[in-house]
Amino acid sequence: MRTYLVTGGAGFIGSNYIHYMFKKYDKDIRIINVDKLTYAGNLENLKDLEDRDNYSFVKADICDKEAIMKIFEENDIDRVVHFAAESHVDRSIKNPEVFVQTNVLGTAVMLNCAKAAWELPDGTFKEDKKFLHVSTDEVYGSLPDDDSAFFYETTPYDPHSPYSASKASSDMLVKSYMDTYKFPANITNCSNNYGPYQFPEKLIPLIINNALNGKKLPVYGDGKNVRDWLFVEDHAKAIDMVQEQGKLFETYNIGGHNEKQNIEIIHIILNTLQEMLPDGDKRKEYINESLITYVEDRKGHDRRYAIAPDKIKEAIGWYPETMFKEGIKKTIAWFFEHEEWMKNVTSGDYQKYYEDMYKDR
Ligand code: NAD
Ligand code: DAU
Repeated sequence: MRTYLVTGGAGFIGSNYIHYMFKKYDKDIRIINVDKLTYAGNLENLKDLEDRDNYSFVKADICDKEAIMKIFEENDIDRVVHFAAESHVDRSIKNPEVFVQTNVLGTAVMLNCAKAAWELPDGTFKEDKKFLHVSTDEVYGSLPDDDSAFFYETTPYDPHSPYSASKASSDMLVKSYMDTYKFPANITNCSNNYGPYQFPEKLIPLIINNALNGKKLPVYGDGKNVRDWLFVEDHAKAIDMVQEQGKLFETYNIGGHNEKQNIEIIHIILNTLQEMLPDGDKRKEYINESLITYVEDRKGHDRRYAIAPDKIKEAIGWYPETMFKEGIKKTIAWFFEHEEWMKNVTSGDYQKYYEDMYKDR
């Protein structure tokens, strides 16, 4: 039975990944989820797994060497899947330091502990041990509006925000371990995810939540920035496929082949909400384009992201399976069914965050 150490498993992608893995492997794997439970970590995301005897949770900071080393000492870890990070660009612009702390130093701790646990006296590594570092397409910088350019694995790094700079640094650390020690790892660089459990600071859940509550829909700049959206379960599948079928030491880009301007996304959400809400639902009266509000642009706002997921398709056979039309319906249906989840995450600190982030916009 393989044992996984998943970092950041209480967050958006991590919790979707853990659900995906238990759906796929059920009792054939064991998962230890280590998470600090920042504002973005939520154990409610994993409530249905609590009774499993092959799942456990450890509350710890990935920067805490002793706590992480203890997990490696007490368990024979076969796979590390490293999601834990500060993940929101706007927050990184306001407060960069914690991004360096968690994303760079935290990754260094994870690498060091895995290396210490897996390295043999001759400097090689125990068999079948693998570390997967989950990263982002934002490390490649920004593409021009012209839609003929794409991010490839060979595209030079050119990060612009403190978030993407910290992720680029963490990628470089992983690369350095692979180059220096032949440390058994992979890096994946993925485009924008959407789906269940996403925290409503990110565009799609924020727009869904605001629209349902008749609040303004803040569009940064001219609304024509492009992101390449991928349904989160497709990302979870890609991570598993890279770790089991990919070549060690390689980087794989993961993308949705689904470029859309932000303003298009907002129109799609408004139309889908109208379509999905039952006749007679009062919210149908105010969910319309009049909620759209153009606000001050994000500082250093990257114009366009677009992944060419050719390598992962050719090497492993992965491709984005969920069409956006279908994925956004699934996402909205999930938010309809989890009103309580949204209420809980938007109470308290979220209100303060929202006021601070949007007050000058
Ligand atoms: P998220 O913010 O929803 O979750 C991050 C999780 O990490 C939370 O559970 C949080 O509590 C935990 N965490 C933060 N700091 C920690 C620390 N010091 N120690 C332990 N745990 C800590 O993020 P997400 O959107 O799920 O992203 C997960 C990973 O995927 C990140 O590495 C991110 O860079 C990457 N990524 C995200 C996207 C996206 O669209 N969301 C796309 C590509 C890559
Ligand atoms: O590309 C992958 C990255 O995608 C991940 O690495 C990050 O962790 C993740 O947060 C995401 O970054 P973005 O900055 O692209 O995502 P966000 O949802 O914050 O914004 C998407 C686009 O929408 C971006 O162009 C900014 C714009 N936007 C965002 C918000 C929150 C708005 O216009 N209004 C908003 O209120």
